[in-house]
Amino acid sequence: MKKFIIGTIATVLLLTISIGIQQGLLFAKPFPYDDEQKGLDTQIIIHLSHVVAENTPKGQAANKFAELVEKNTNGKVKVHIYPNASMYNDENEFQALQNGKVEMIIPTFSKMTSFVPNWQVLDLPYLFNTDDEVHEVLTGSIGEQLLNELKPFHIKGLGFWHNGFKHLTSVDHPIHTFEDLKGLRIRTMPSKTLEKQFEAVEATPIPISFSEVFTDLESHAIDAQENTASNIYSKGFYKVQKHMTLTKHGILGYAVLINENFWNSLPSKIQKQIMAAMKETTDWQFEQAVLMNETDLQKLEQQDNFEIYSMNNEERQRFKEKLTPVYDLYRASVQNNQILSEIEKIVSP
Ligand code: LMR
Repeated sequence: MKKFIIGTIATVLLLTISIGIQQGLLFAKPFPYDDEQKGLDTQIIIHLSHVVAENTPKGQAANKFAELVEKNTNGKVKVHIYPNASMYNDENEFQALQNGKVEMIIPTFSKMTSFVPNWQVLDLPYLFNTDDEVHEVLTGSIGEQLLNELKPFHIKGLGFWHNGFKHLTSVDHPIHTFEDLKGLRIRTMPSKTLEKQFEAVEATPIPISFSEVFTDLESHAIDAQENTASNIYSKGFYKVQKHMTLTKHGILGYAVLINENFWNSLPSKIQKQIMAAMKETTDWQFEQAVLMNETDLQKLEQQDNFEIYSMNNEERQRFKEKLTPVYDLYRASVQNNQILSEIEKIVSP
């Protein structure tokens, strides 16, 4: 009897081992660790698409936001970032967000002005003088009012981020006075106010997607463009332009947008954790953007065959006056002039 029991146990054991080997359950290599396997069924993924390089104010802030979201939610929410227009570009990212093909995008507010005309106010030339003024406007009640205008599009605005002040670059001759802009084909972001700004100095504005600016400058399809030092450096525009003039004539900043259905599907605890990550990133981001533009301007100063000029105060004043009709056109074209009046109370004249 004892022999029979031992024999049966041994047979069962042998059978189990041989089936285990056949099925690859024994001696199989463990799966490589993949953090997406952990809690796969409950993990929430946010796909975030943007158009600039990672070493820029927006690219760095997106990375920081992703880190903080993961930390605050204890790994439950992961943000996958697609920089450099590798997923969607300027032309199709807003539609992709509306259709829920991507959960988050971070366009410049200028690129949103065809949907939200009141945001043109932020494109007005020489409206802001300092980064602190930009911070106060974009992170205060005015910023909130502007974000509320996204409601009809079923998009939630989480906040605004800053890049910096725009300057001009050109290829054939330097821009010392606004008269030097006459006749140039200048790339702009798609914004009526930006187009009118260049029409006011008799240049031809050409709206082009950011991902095409380098090749269009290289092929001389355009002569000039406006941008921040960080975008000019990180995208290598200095390799295909010869001159840069520090005009500081406008600002470039971003709206951090999330698909509203997706947002509403999140538990309120997660929403709060994401908003906390957003607030911390925003505070860090505004300072970081200023530092990054300073450093990138220094790097631009070291480039061969690339000259940087500052516009003297007298010329700057003339340029500013030349652009005042843009304000009249803006006032005539938007429904809400209240926002401009509120900004004018914050910025120094
Ligand atoms: C541009 O198109 O010039 C910039 O808006 C790109 C960006 O997102 O900073």
